[in-house]
Amino acid sequence: MKSNVFCNMVGIEYPIIQGAMAWIADSSLAAAVSNAGGLGIIASGNAPVEVVREEIRKAKKLTDKPFGVNIMLLSSNAEEVAKLVCEEGVKVVTTGAGSPGKYISMWKEHGVKVIPVVASVALAKRMEKAGVDAVVAEGCESGGHVGELTTMALVPQVVDAVNIPVIAAGGIGDKRGVGAAFMLGASGVQVGTRFLVAKECTVHQNYKDKVISAKDIDTVVTGRTTGHPVRVLRNKLSRKYQILEKEEASIEQLDELGKGALVKAVKDGDTDNGSVMAGQIAGLISKEETCKEIIEEMFDLKSLLNKFDSII
Ligand SMILES: Cc1cc2nc3c(=O)[nH]c(=O)nc-3n(C[C@H](O)[C@H](O)[C@H](O)COP(=O)(O)O)c2cc1C
Repeated sequence: MKSNVFCNMVGIEYPIIQGAMAWIADSSLAAAVSNAGGLGIIASGNAPVEVVREEIRKAKKLTDKPFGVNIMLLSSNAEEVAKLVCEEGVKVVTTGAGSPGKYISMWKEHGVKVIPVVASVALAKRMEKAGVDAVVAEGCESGGHVGELTTMALVPQVVDAVNIPVIAAGGIGDKRGVGAAFMLGASGVQVGTRFLVAKECTVHQNYKDKVISAKDIDTVVTGRTTGHPVRVLRNKLSRKYQILEKEEASIEQLDELGKGALVKAVKDGDTDNGSVMAGQIAGLISKEETCKEIIEEMFDLKSLLNKFDSII
């Protein structure tokens, strides 16, 4: 990769971050992505801090390349994991669900690069002011927690609003998506859904099969009524959830239905009653591949140049 600002910032070969995926993105996936030249991320989710420490140490054994840790700021473990990354000498932190403001000076002292995920221009500007190194602008096509704007609309507006590198996320599943992200002004991409089916991804095979067999219209956003909208693949659980939301069920009832649902799908392979988080791009994904194969396909960009022949 020729002199890419994000690659230079974090010391990687291809400007791609493997998106954090709670209960899924462990040392196996993160190290494989880093070994393939991207930036692997261990998702800390709600895991106990000692489990996260173990994953960091395993990743260090599996790769000598940079990798990062994602912190969900609303999790009860956020503060402990924020300190842990400093203790363990992790190079990059990505954050979700809010503002990491209170941890930034500690991370800076330890030389940790800070990259929050944002879903609006306002938050991107706030984050830049707070001193972060880059932002991930994530559109609502993505799997997992979503905002309101699409990647196509959000990315160029964030790019114009800040002077730090912007990484595009949401709906990027192949080299065409990567090319489009760069056209929108992004300096890199973050990809979650396509890495769900990576050979090195330890998610249950039933989960992978459900992603591979998904069609374009197979995702739905649940949880808008609770203030925590999440994009998942349609199944028995999402239908139950939607019925309850239509009936204006209480947040407690909805929370009860959602409790442990991601683990049920990820670990037990119960893709009917578990939460199968995935993005709209699932419809494009047709096979399992290694992280190296995925990244090399996504950055085979020279073949895209002739797309402009008919319009320039
Ligand atoms: C199963 C799943 C779990 C996710 N968990 C997290 C998480 O724990 N923290 C986070 O910041 N983002 C999370 N995300 C978002 C991803 O990191 C990434 O930004 C997103 O998947 C990119 O969009 P795509 O799915 O269209 O590739 C999750 C996404 C998926 C699909």
